[in-house]
This record gives sequence, C-alpha cells and structure tokens, in this order.
Amino acid sequence: MRITVTVDGMTYTDEVEPRLLLVHYLRDRLGKVGTVVGCDTSNCGACTVHLDGRSVKSCSVLAVQADGAEVTTVEGLSRDGVLHPVQQAFHDNHALQCGYCTPGMIMSTIDLLEENPDPDEHEVRLGLEGNLCRCTGYQNIVRAALDAAQKARAAELQTDNTTAGGGR
Ligand code: FES
Ligand code: FES
Repeated sequence: MRITVTVDGMTYTDEVEPRLLLVHYLRDRLGKVGTVVGCDTSNCGACTVHLDGRSVKSCSVLAVQADGAEVTTVEGLSRDGVLHPVQQAFHDNHALQCGYCTPGMIMSTIDLLEENPDPDEHEVRLGLEGNLCRCTGYQNIVRAALDAAQKARAAELQTDNTTAGGGR
C-alpha cells in the first residue's frame, strides 16, 4: 500500500506492506533509529513517538495507520541544534544512563506536560507508567519532568510580563 506521512517535518511517500509496524518503517525505511524497540508486548514504551501530537507506542501502530498523519520522533525535537526543553531537563537532571528508554521517555514526557503543565510527582509517575527504564530507578526522570514543567511555566510567566510591560 502507498502511504504519505510527514516525519519530523519531511514528507515521505512509500510503498509498504500492510503488516509493517510504524516503528520498523521509521527505523528501517527512514533511518530514524532514535526510536527503539525494547519489547514485543507493547509495555516498555521505548518506541514512543507522537502521532498527530499525541504519544503512541509505534510498535503497536501499523505504518499504514500513519497515512496522512504527522509523526514526530525524538530526532525532530531540537531546533537549530538547540535541545528541546525536555531534552535539556533530562540532561540537567541526569535522567538517563544507557539512554535506550530515553527517546520514548522524552516523547511521553512532552505529551504529559502538554496535557498537564503543572503535575505533581505522583501525576508524573502515573503519566509515565507506560515507559519502562531499567537503569535510573525513575527518580531523576521524575525530577527532569518536574524541572521542565517548572521552567516552561516560568518562561510563560516571563512572556506574559513582557507582553504586559510592552503595553504600558
Ligand atoms: S517496543 Fe516496547 S512498547 Fe513498543
Ligand atoms: S536509561 Fe537505561 S533503560 Fe532508561
């Protein structure tokens, strides 16, 4: 089947087998190997990407289901070499060790914070329960998510103040 899908801002048209999983399409066809596979039972979340802005486990989506959609992988997050604030927060808070769960963890965190910009620790843990990590013990991942949320709110406050100040 022919599909057209936008991945990290580039549009691709490809002939794919209907049974091809989105994660394999991303990795094997497009070379987007930042998205990884950690299980075959859809519980680890290492393969998490955004499909039309919401996080999905790309091992549980067929490539043909992404036809006409917009996919963002971890490789599409930084802008002109500047890390996405959630990527920066993971770095700052030592929220990764082997790095294998990290792409999926970051994609899930971004979705979580879009849904809930001011989560408490419990809400972060619940929000990320679809993502497994065997290295960090989660503590620093939670810290990173809370840090990113707090910085995003502070930045927003600053923009609001600047806008208000400009009007005076
Ligand atoms: S690879 Fe484990 S949930 Fe997708
Ligand atoms: S950093 Fe190794 S699995 Fe999470």
